[in-house]
Amino acid sequence: MSKYTKEQLAAILEPVGQTQVLRFWEKLAPAEQEHLGDQITSIRWAEVSRWSQNALHGGESTGIPLEKLVPAPYAPLKPENAAQSATQAEAIAVGEELLRQGKVAGFTVAGGQGTRLGYDGPKGTYCFSPVRNKSLFQYFAEALLRNMEKYQTVIPWYIMTSPANHQATVEFFEDNGYFGLDKANVRFFIQGQLPGFDQNGKAILEAPGSLALFANGHGGTLAALRDSGTLDDMEARGVEYLAYWQVDNPLVSVCDPLFLGLHHLSGSEMSARALIKRDAMEKLGHFCILDGQTIIVEYSDMPMDLLKQTDESGRLRFRAGSPAIHVISRQFIRRLTNGTLALTPHRALKKISYVDENGALVKPEAPNGIKLEFFIFDALPLAKNPMILEADRSEQFAAIKNPAGSDSPDSCRADLQERTAKWLEVAGVAVPRKADGSLDATLEISLKRAVCAADVKALVDDGVIAKAIPAGGTLVLD
Ligand code: UTP
Repeated sequence: MSKYTKEQLAAILEPVGQTQVLRFWEKLAPAEQEHLGDQITSIRWAEVSRWSQNALHGGESTGIPLEKLVPAPYAPLKPENAAQSATQAEAIAVGEELLRQGKVAGFTVAGGQGTRLGYDGPKGTYCFSPVRNKSLFQYFAEALLRNMEKYQTVIPWYIMTSPANHQATVEFFEDNGYFGLDKANVRFFIQGQLPGFDQNGKAILEAPGSLALFANGHGGTLAALRDSGTLDDMEARGVEYLAYWQVDNPLVSVCDPLFLGLHHLSGSEMSARALIKRDAMEKLGHFCILDGQTIIVEYSDMPMDLLKQTDESGRLRFRAGSPAIHVISRQFIRRLTNGTLALTPHRALKKISYVDENGALVKPEAPNGIKLEFFIFDALPLAKNPMILEADRSEQFAAIKNPAGSDSPDSCRADLQERTAKWLEVAGVAVPRKADGSLDATLEISLKRAVCAADVKALVDDGVIAKAIPAGGTLVLD
């Protein structure tokens, strides 16, 4: 006997017109009934139905009055005057002190499905590094280890997973001894899910006794931080700031003192790094101001004329793009999640497998339904004093999204090795290059040893790294 009756569940579903999900009820085994009942009772149907109806009937328009958009100002990475130089020096000192005092935690969103990469497993377990074939998770772990050593501190690491990849993620860390991190300082939590809907707004069954549920987007972070007790954990540890990054960007500087310090000094509740777009068509979200508030407008929502507009100096007017690197204050998350969250999910048209009237699984050839996803950057306009700081792309960003071409493991490896080469060259090492300027060596320095140019210089000065690398050679430092 299941703990639910059909009538009980129908009473929940009737007001929102979703009783079709009970159509196989009589044929389900008790365990299946229980599973479906658990799913149904975990969903706030009134709210979710409103979102799905808006998503289905809201049309293509985002509702953003595009004519009112202006580019958001950002702080340049290279100071442009003495005052900016002084502010940056102060910010670096403040950021380092925040790290030393244990006020910063690392935070990785790792709940995505990584559909584009097509890798079967949590994306963080994907191995990619040039020589040692390390995983993305190992990269971040080693960067955290070096920062902890440098600042003689503990940097807790929070990792958001999804129901689909949680177990495999935790097992990966267990199997790999947490890559040398203290297990007590690594905390996983699972993000929420939302049902997928067909074009008529009906929740989809992926099996006769199971709703098709999907991770609710990286914006699911906020509620999940609260619901999982992670905010309480931060509070208990005295952590004030989350350094936020995505699981597929191994170049990210996990704890950048300048960024942390500027966030603190500017009284910002949520800050963001900005990449200067390579060209008008680069697919990054755009930092904009709308009615005095900082927002990110997705690439697909920007009309061509705005994408291509240039300013008086000939540069793209909307050139600040988002690599999804943030600092978020704990107090802000507490404030945002102290009641019901004001975020609205975005819709994505997707192919969603469903069961037909006979209970057989159908895999559609074309998008047949919608998924709802919250975006973390929708919290930006709700933050006080949001601060945007330019990032050096070659130092901070090389994402792994696609199996080949741009934003692929190959392009990421190349960018990673270029960064290592740059750090080596700054330290006076002769790095072999081919006639076209490309690298003629394979390079991998563990982030455990060096997370910046200064770290590499110290290793060169100490004789740990030789001053020259033979053409076609390999430099590995574990
Ligand atoms: P993407 O938007 O690139 O999605 O996620 P994805 O699922 O990784 O990849 P595709 O689109 O299916 O190919 C950006 C970041 O947000 C996280 C991802 O893990 C990645 O770090 N994310 C995304 C979540 O944590 N939860 C989600 O529900 C979605």
